[in-house]
Amino acid sequence: MAVKQTDSLAGQVDMTRLPRHIAIIMDGNGRWATRRGLPRTAGHKAGAETFRRIATYCKNIGVQYLTVYAFSTENWKRSADEVGAIMALLKKYMEEAVETMERDNIRLHFFGDMTPIAPELRALARETDEITEHLSADAFQANVCLNYGGRDEILRAVRQFAADCAAGKRKPEELDEALFSGYLDSRNIPDPDLIIRPSGELRLSNFLLWQCAYSEFYFTDALWPDFDEAELNRAIVAFQARDRRFGGVKK
Ligand code: FPP
Repeated sequence: MAVKQTDSLAGQVDMTRLPRHIAIIMDGNGRWATRRGLPRTAGHKAGAETFRRIATYCKNIGVQYLTVYAFSTENWKRSADEVGAIMALLKKYMEEAVETMERDNIRLHFFGDMTPIAPELRALARETDEITEHLSADAFQANVCLNYGGRDEILRAVRQFAADCAAGKRKPEELDEALFSGYLDSRNIPDPDLIIRPSGELRLSNFLLWQCAYSEFYFTDALWPDFDEAELNRAIVAFQARDRRFGGVKK
């Protein structure tokens, strides 16, 4: 597919060595809005648009998986207004996805504990899962982390493994990294090659704690609503300059 060259940096991206899986902490929406004298919710609205734009760009250049942190297990501490606004944006995105993902060949999956999520959103997530199952396994896939925490994901996996052992389906001595990975929300999805955090914060905030073991990290001061194709190209160029050894030595 022809890729629109959005800036001069696009030419520096080696399209034959793209990260297969990019994960992003969509941070800085609140600051973006406050700096403009707008309510924080306006920042989330702009952030949702940025997500659409970056997902489309990833799909067009041939990145296979994009995972975004939309709502953490800790984000319930925010005001009811802000939580409601984020949930409304997610609902709108899910409704659009139900209508368009088949046409656009986009798989959509949710990471996180959906138990406390409103029934209408859970029903929409079930619908998008069903559509995803019919789409080809090598189609572009967006993963949205909703009521997600890396520690919570690991605990849920441990609980399920323990329950399977108690039911006689598994034996503790069978457990290895591959088997454990199969209990996580990210089962069947390769670990992220590149994790991006905009907005100048230098921390992981409970994001993909198991999966990030060998990920490359990229931090930028740009706030998420200002993050664009040029920013993503910059992150990919930086990623391509890294020497990934996975604990080995250079030949
Ligand atoms: C972090 O910025 C952002 C969030 C907690 C919410 C992200 C949600 C969306 C972009 C909307 C819905 C998503 C999709 C996929 C349609 P912050 O509020 O912590 O920013 P701050 O650090 O500047 O306050």
